[in-house]
Amino acid sequence: MNEKQDIGSLFDRISRTYDRLNHLLSLNIDRRWRYRAVSSLAKLAADEQLLDVAVGTADLTLEVLRQGKAQHVVGIDLSEQMMKIGQEKIKKRGYELSVSLKKENAQHMSFADNSFAAVTCAFGVRNFADLDAGLREMTRVLRPGGQMVILEFSYPENKVIAALYDFYFTHILPLIGKMLSHDKTAYTYLNRSVKSFIWGQQMCDKLSEVGLSNVGYKTLTFGIATIYMGEKRG
Ligand SMILES: C[S@@+](CC[C@H](N)C(=O)[O-])C[C@H]1O[C@@H](n2cnc3c(N)ncnc32)[C@H](O)[C@@H]1O
Repeated sequence: MNEKQDIGSLFDRISRTYDRLNHLLSLNIDRRWRYRAVSSLAKLAADEQLLDVAVGTADLTLEVLRQGKAQHVVGIDLSEQMMKIGQEKIKKRGYELSVSLKKENAQHMSFADNSFAAVTCAFGVRNFADLDAGLREMTRVLRPGGQMVILEFSYPENKVIAALYDFYFTHILPLIGKMLSHDKTAYTYLNRSVKSFIWGQQMCDKLSEVGLSNVGYKTLTFGIATIYMGEKRG
């Protein structure tokens, strides 16, 4: 079976250590990346909703609320354990009334067409078993003119940075990940999934194909991560 077919269980297994490891392995840069992704969103009106796809432990959702970009967020994910931790964090920060979390597959969501004024996804699309289906669904539920922001790992163009990055991802990160999460496969999966994924213009072409306009991207930290943006064609 394709490992992405069972991605919910993989994230269920590492949910308890996910946040700690994320911040440790990225040397805390992931917080800055989410801050930058959310900064590129326009502020929604009080009666509009934002959908955070692959919400996980809700870090992007919490950043949306912290920056006041939306007053209500719907978060969906396949992993109940990741969302359980997300819910605890939401409660701790007093945002229970501003967020609804739901178990849903991004590739076939139950929401009606044009339901959301904005759709976000941080480090999620790389994990979709069917990327095209996920992007099509994210566009379907976005209202015309609504903004989509995707944050995802990418690959550095500079050869020296790329060599250091390869070394870190192939040797250091899986080792620390295995020691701290006690899961042998999760962090070698991370390495494989990043290296085999598309980035830059190829991703922008896909976003245009599924129905977005004004598509563009900004690379972060030597191209290790990228923010993709677009608007649904009216
Ligand atoms: C790396 S985590 C990212 C979580 C969070 N967005 C963040 O910024 O930390 C990826 C998440 O994508 C979820 N996921 C993967 N495929 C999915 C799908 N088809 N539908 C919904 N969630 C999915 C996983 O369960 C996991 O929680």
